[in-house]
Amino acid sequence: MPTPILHKESLIPGKTSKLVLHAPQIAQKARPGHFVMLRMSEQGERIPLTIADTDRENGTITIVYLVMGKSTAMLEALGVGDAILDVCGPLGHPTHIEKRGTVVCVGGGTGIAAMHHIAKGHARIGNKVVGVIGARSKDLLLFENELKSFVDELLVSTDDGSYGHKGLVTELLRDRLEKDKDVFEVVAVGPVPMMAAVAETTRPFGVKTTVSLNPIMVDGIGMCGACRVTVGGKTKFACVDGPEFDGHEVDFPELRRRLAAYREQETISIEEYRRVSHGE
Ligand SMILES: Cc1cc2nc3c(=O)[nH]c(=O)nc-3n(C[C@H](O)[C@H](O)[C@H](O)COP(=O)(O)OP(=O)(O)OC[C@H]3O[C@@H](n4cnc5c(N)ncnc54)[C@H](O)[C@@H]3O)c2cc1C
Ligand code: FES
Repeated sequence: MPTPILHKESLIPGKTSKLVLHAPQIAQKARPGHFVMLRMSEQGERIPLTIADTDRENGTITIVYLVMGKSTAMLEALGVGDAILDVCGPLGHPTHIEKRGTVVCVGGGTGIAAMHHIAKGHARIGNKVVGVIGARSKDLLLFENELKSFVDELLVSTDDGSYGHKGLVTELLRDRLEKDKDVFEVVAVGPVPMMAAVAETTRPFGVKTTVSLNPIMVDGIGMCGACRVTVGGKTKFACVDGPEFDGHEVDFPELRRRLAAYREQETISIEEYRRVSHGE
């Protein structure tokens, strides 16, 4: 069923936007960690996007996306008053959230939006939440104000030092883990190299580390095998077994290889889309 766009906000012009969608049935069931599969056209592919927030009363869900290739460019071309052809969800397992003490939630790039929903779930249940967010520069940081409104502490880093700590989120994380021995879990959502680095940072501390994996998905319901990942030497399907897994057990090099498998076709696809839609 077409899903209307009620609100659109450009977070990083031309690169990252936030959409609020009227999806009351999904909003009723969605919990932190869930994702949806979207299709923009009859012939188009389905793409997974994390549910970054929900408003059950108003029947809305929020998604935040980085414009990467053809499908996200098609999404970016839509605005308020338009509808997405179909939105299926909520999919995947929600984040396991229980009251345990202090949790550190790490977000990088667009992953900050997804991490924000997980952090909110932990805050709601009464856990102490330390947020750690990072981006290449200040203008690429997302959801800082939203996070500030409920986390107990927010640590910020930028690669170029334009805001907060100059360096990587993993440096802030290591520092925090050295000072605070009470952290029961670290959750990381962001680019694959960042999640892999977070897992290596927490390993010597023996802190449980949960990462939200983003392999290529085709159906999102466990039928196609596209989202295969290896965790603890075993084959898992991120759409039905995840998308969250133990970061210390994930085969990150394999995930990176599989994500790059269709790069040539993706480049042709976006070039063709731009040529047809903009006459380039
Ligand atoms: C569970 C999950 C949640 C995600 N949540 C978000 C989110 O909240 N915000 C966000 O910006 N991105 C998210 N992603 C990634 C997003 O799905 C891809 O960026 C998007 O599919 C790219 O499609 P495209 O046609 O625009 O780009 P393309 O040019 O087709 O691809 C660009 C790159 O995106 C990845 N990709 C391509 N197709 C898929 C696909 N069908 N499934 C997954 N990855 C793909 C590949 O690494 C590829 O190299 C999520 C992925 C997963 C698996
Ligand atoms: S996307 Fe098809 S099995 Fe997961």
